[in-house]
Amino acid sequence: MDKKLIALVTGATGGLGSAMCQRLQKDGYHVIAHYRNQEKADQWAVEMKEQGFVFDMAKADVSNFEETAAMMKDIETRFGNVDVLVNNAGITRDRPFHKMTFQEWDEVLHANLYSVFNCTRNVIDGMRERSFGRIINISSVNGQRGQFGQANYSAAKAGMHGFTKTLAMEVASKGITVNTISPGYIGTDMVMAVREDVRNAIVAQIPVGRLGGTEEIAHLVSFLASKEASFITGANYAINGGQHVY
Ligand code: CAA
Repeated sequence: MDKKLIALVTGATGGLGSAMCQRLQKDGYHVIAHYRNQEKADQWAVEMKEQGFVFDMAKADVSNFEETAAMMKDIETRFGNVDVLVNNAGITRDRPFHKMTFQEWDEVLHANLYSVFNCTRNVIDGMRERSFGRIINISSVNGQRGQFGQANYSAAKAGMHGFTKTLAMEVASKGITVNTISPGYIGTDMVMAVREDVRNAIVAQIPVGRLGGTEEIAHLVSFLASKEASFITGANYAINGGQHVY
């Protein structure tokens, strides 16, 4: 029997990450769930088990290059090379720009964009050697169109797709695809943390008339990870209920 492909999902304990882990495991991947916060991860593992899922897990602050490199080495030793990398970890520190602190800017750029370099740089050599890989970067509608209060987040998320486009060109001949997914507003804790009146005004602008489901994003991840998607690279998939069309 063929060895299972290894899929690493960063930020696995969040709403989108959880759905992606579950979907990829159902698809037959050996899923490694990345986390940063031990307490949250322990609780998450219990919840997953209650839902019938058990995942191997790996810890790191992916905004830190050395910590990320050490985690990737550990994954390689324990399980093998990563074949599918989903750069999903991310945070928000929303604030109108004239009030934004350097720390709020810096934390978001590190967690959302530097993390993409840190994770990808530490798996790309192995993917090139094996002539196969899938890199899926989870960006945002707000990287495509901007959003009041998100200068830091929009900059990081737009930067992700610039990275996708260049890396896609560089590794296309090596059997590696690199794509961006730009979700709109999905029913996650991150979105539910937006003030209710602001959130309601945003939902009112979504033509489909509702927040997206986490499993809808996971479905697209599953598709882009598949062997059949080998001609799709450097693309940016909008999945936002029609909120932003262009
Ligand atoms: N558009 C235009 N003006 C706005 C505005 C908006 N969206 N939001 C606030 N303002 C105005 C206020 O009315 C106020 O005007 P006045 O000074 O004339 O009264 C002015 O801007 C300043 O308001 P405040 O400084 O008091 O800002 P606030 O505290 O009311 O709101 C904020 C700031 C918390 C950042 C708020 O704008 C907000 O929550 N924005 C939404 C952020 C958002 O969508 N985050 C998404 C998180 S989920 C995610 O990121 C996932 C994903 O990828 C989609």
